[in-house]
Amino acid sequence: MNHDERIAVQTSGNNLKNYEETYRSFDWSQVEKEFTWSQTGRVNAAYEAIDRHAESGKGDKIALMYSDPSRDEKYTFQEMKEKSNQFGNVLRKIGVHKGDRVFIFMPRTPELYFSFLGTIKIGAIVGPLFEAFMEAAVKDRLENSEAVALVTTPALLPRVPVNELPHLKHIILVGAEGKLDEGYYSFEEEMKQASTQLEIEWMDREDPMLIHYTSGSTGKPKGVLHVHNAMIQHYQTGKWVLDLQEDDIYWCTADPGWVTGTSYGIFAPWLNGVTNVIRGGRFSPDDWYQTIEKNKVTVWYSAPTAFRMLMGAGEEVVKKYDLSSVRHVLSVGEPLNPEVVRWGMKVYGKRIHDNWWMTETGGILISNYPQMEIKPGSMGKPFPGIYAAIIDDEGNELPPYQMGNLAVKTPWPSMMRQIWKNPEKYQEYFRIPGWYISGDSAYKDEDGYFWFQGRIDDVINTSGERVGPFEVESKLVEHPAVAEAGVIGKPDPVRGQIIKAFIALRSGYQPSEELKEEIRNFVKTGLAAHAAPREIEFKDKLPKTRSGKIMRRVLKAWELGLPTGDLSTMED
Ligand code: WT7
Repeated sequence: MNHDERIAVQTSGNNLKNYEETYRSFDWSQVEKEFTWSQTGRVNAAYEAIDRHAESGKGDKIALMYSDPSRDEKYTFQEMKEKSNQFGNVLRKIGVHKGDRVFIFMPRTPELYFSFLGTIKIGAIVGPLFEAFMEAAVKDRLENSEAVALVTTPALLPRVPVNELPHLKHIILVGAEGKLDEGYYSFEEEMKQASTQLEIEWMDREDPMLIHYTSGSTGKPKGVLHVHNAMIQHYQTGKWVLDLQEDDIYWCTADPGWVTGTSYGIFAPWLNGVTNVIRGGRFSPDDWYQTIEKNKVTVWYSAPTAFRMLMGAGEEVVKKYDLSSVRHVLSVGEPLNPEVVRWGMKVYGKRIHDNWWMTETGGILISNYPQMEIKPGSMGKPFPGIYAAIIDDEGNELPPYQMGNLAVKTPWPSMMRQIWKNPEKYQEYFRIPGWYISGDSAYKDEDGYFWFQGRIDDVINTSGERVGPFEVESKLVEHPAVAEAGVIGKPDPVRGQIIKAFIALRSGYQPSEELKEEIRNFVKTGLAAHAAPREIEFKDKLPKTRSGKIMRRVLKAWELGLPTGDLSTMED
């Protein structure tokens, strides 16, 4: 990496005037004073995001600009307030209570957003699921969370193993036709009957609000729990990182099934009272540029994979559209290659601002700010109020350019408060007193910029989606031909990493291209398309420890042609 290459400050009219000075003087209590709950002690993040604006003269302002290839709709803050109130009443009527888990499994549509906000308004815990999940992924999450209600569509319902989920009592179907069985409700019918007035459930700031499942290197997906207090961070990072201003038209391309799609696809823009663009349907360069042009997007938050695909599509397609509305561009999820940053400068005439955070951190912790020089390839500097450092395994801070654990001093407002029903897993993140250990390795340069190096564990990041190798391996061994499977991330120029599976076949099965395709499909239809291995290699035997654990680090070394390191724990 070139630590000296810099791109000068370019954005004007920004919210954070002087990063260094603010970093020295800021503390989080300054943000709390902006909300009424600093006096009452009671809060509801959905109220703060929507109703607060509807009640203070912004009722007619557009909150949501939604479109997909078949719909084009706009909703004001007042309408969002009423719709989410109605949905809160629907849940109450059905018998959903404060603290219950309500999951939402459907594509991005306005109904998803009404449901999300309405669930939070009655104090229930919302769990958004990515629409691409297949049965096994859906089941794990609904089972672990003991969800009592699910909002979904008739098309996705076959992937919900209702009979194997004893806690799941209520299914609300968006777009259902005809008469429904007991326990099933028509979203549209129920909404029609529900009042637009709602008695909001006032919560403690530390009350649970949201669960996102994410993957580690071992075990089933973990339910990362966030509380209402997280809004403090969503609001302030919205101001200083997204640089949101009154007249902005903001577009975050992430789905709410992932944390970026909630923290920055819902909370940050609406807490700041800004118009939020949601585009449904599939990615294509034309579609995305058209979305910017048509909506006159000013702030655009996306991911390296998307920028790399746009780069791959070339400059010609950029020239077909008027992208002059765009003022500020941001990226998160995986390393943003310097080459992509340079390309952004050339083609959009804009800096792409990389930032770093995780499902567990709930909000942005390290970032490039509009008024700061960018060093292409760096994730930037800690957000005011955040102390980030590189530490060794004993908790000692390391000097510049030395690689180590990327860690953050606890706590901060949007830090996860639990791994659902798994306190041991939660504790693993805090094994060095006073620190949150991210699982990423990085180093810091002498100017305080952080540079990402990789994951310390085996977690795979493919196109910005975090995939646990264990989840994929577990699915693979369910296939009748598979005796053993080991899964790794293999470097890929567009996707960051792709999933590669090493497979030992059961006796009686012969390696073939057809079998590879069949196995790939088995994961695709059983777990999720993004979790299916793009590459499969058959092996007679996989490297294992004496206790039978597959040694992914050896598979990785094979793949990259590197030395395999210490093999003392390997079976004969
Ligand atoms: C992991 C977290 C919350 C954002 C969406 C991903 C990787 C995240 C960057 C970045 C390099 C990054 C890390 C992190 N990551 N941002 N700017 N540069 N790597 O959330 O699914 O919880 O994944 O994504 O490895 O630990 P997530």
